[in-house]
Amino acid sequence: MAKKTVRDLDVAGKRVLVRVDFNVPLNKESGRVSDDTRIRAALPTIDYLIQQKSKVILVSHLGRPKGKVDEKYKMDPVAVRLSELLNRPVQKVDEAVGEVPRSAVEQMQGGDVLLLENVRFYPEEEKNDENFARMLAELAEIYVNDAFGTAHRAHASTEGVAEFLPAVAGFLMEKELDMLGRLLANPESPFAAIIGGAKVSDKIAVLSNLIEKVDILIIGGGMANTFLKSQGYDMGKSLLEVDKLEMARNLMKKAKNRGIQLLLPVDVVAAPGAAPNAEPATVPVDKIPPDFMALDIGPETLGRFAAALKNARTVFWNGPMGVFEMKPFAGGTEAIARELSQVKGITVVGGGDSVAAVKQAGVADQISHISTGGGAALEFLEGRELPGVVALLDK
Ligand code: 3PG
Repeated sequence: MAKKTVRDLDVAGKRVLVRVDFNVPLNKESGRVSDDTRIRAALPTIDYLIQQKSKVILVSHLGRPKGKVDEKYKMDPVAVRLSELLNRPVQKVDEAVGEVPRSAVEQMQGGDVLLLENVRFYPEEEKNDENFARMLAELAEIYVNDAFGTAHRAHASTEGVAEFLPAVAGFLMEKELDMLGRLLANPESPFAAIIGGAKVSDKIAVLSNLIEKVDILIIGGGMANTFLKSQGYDMGKSLLEVDKLEMARNLMKKAKNRGIQLLLPVDVVAAPGAAPNAEPATVPVDKIPPDFMALDIGPETLGRFAAALKNARTVFWNGPMGVFEMKPFAGGTEAIARELSQVKGITVVGGGDSVAAVKQAGVADQISHISTGGGAALEFLEGRELPGVVALLDK
């Protein structure tokens, strides 16, 4: 990796501020962390610093409290879960800068772990305020960014703070950049990208960049409707972006010129509406009834997608194949997750819904890399530089 990591600095006994992405879902009733994947993903860095007897000061955001204290986004449940996972106490303070964290840090011994309050309770965080970044930096001697999921944000705790301290990547950040970087730089071919999700508009930039790299492009989910419509199919009541038809045509033309195998659904699971008790019908894409909408890929499509993936050596997947949170329309997405687990090569999954799908299908441990970044992974694969990465010291 082109950036220095926590291995490149002497962190022993030092005060280390670690930006983590502990933006995790909470259970509304119990208030507990309902999915601790992102906390577990940061453990290698935290464990390493504990072993080095560093004073580990963790900072994260949780939710979008918009610069104000919001009880439901306090970091306390995260501290509880982290403490369980580390099997040691984690002290939590109710502020992120100023006297309260400063005196807590003064009391720390080597190997102690402190979690600051939600950094987005301060409006200065998202404004990347210099003074606020300096106040965060004053707590520590070294800054480690392990928050890959937030690296696309130029905020005080992800970018500004790096001005004031030696700034390096944590192990999760390193792994994410390495695995996602492999997709862009010399991926072993055949390289297939499976892109789904509701809207083409969210994926235009990533499609445009990946189309230059992949051998196979598989398009499913709601966004496939726009591509099919652009080819003249009557999509009934299906979700569509009429203002993106030209763009879809252009992307298809580009794929053709590059000799890429581009696959769209040939049959769909359709129903009059997206309802959990819907009685769907499987129809070819040229026979969608006018009052039906496409809500999942059909079995013939799945067979074609699976055949294309069979020989792939590198696969990236982002976005579900249908409305997978509803049982009648979950089959296609879950089947793609299972197909992915059979690929003999590097498989990378990014984005909340596709990650949920590989977990739902019980194949998460058979995927080479499950990214903790949704937006960050997409922006990286769009070929953009991530401010939280740019700010780190070069090797
Ligand atoms: C995420 O969940 O994608 C990251 O934690 C970033 O959160 P944000 O979109 O609120 O900046």
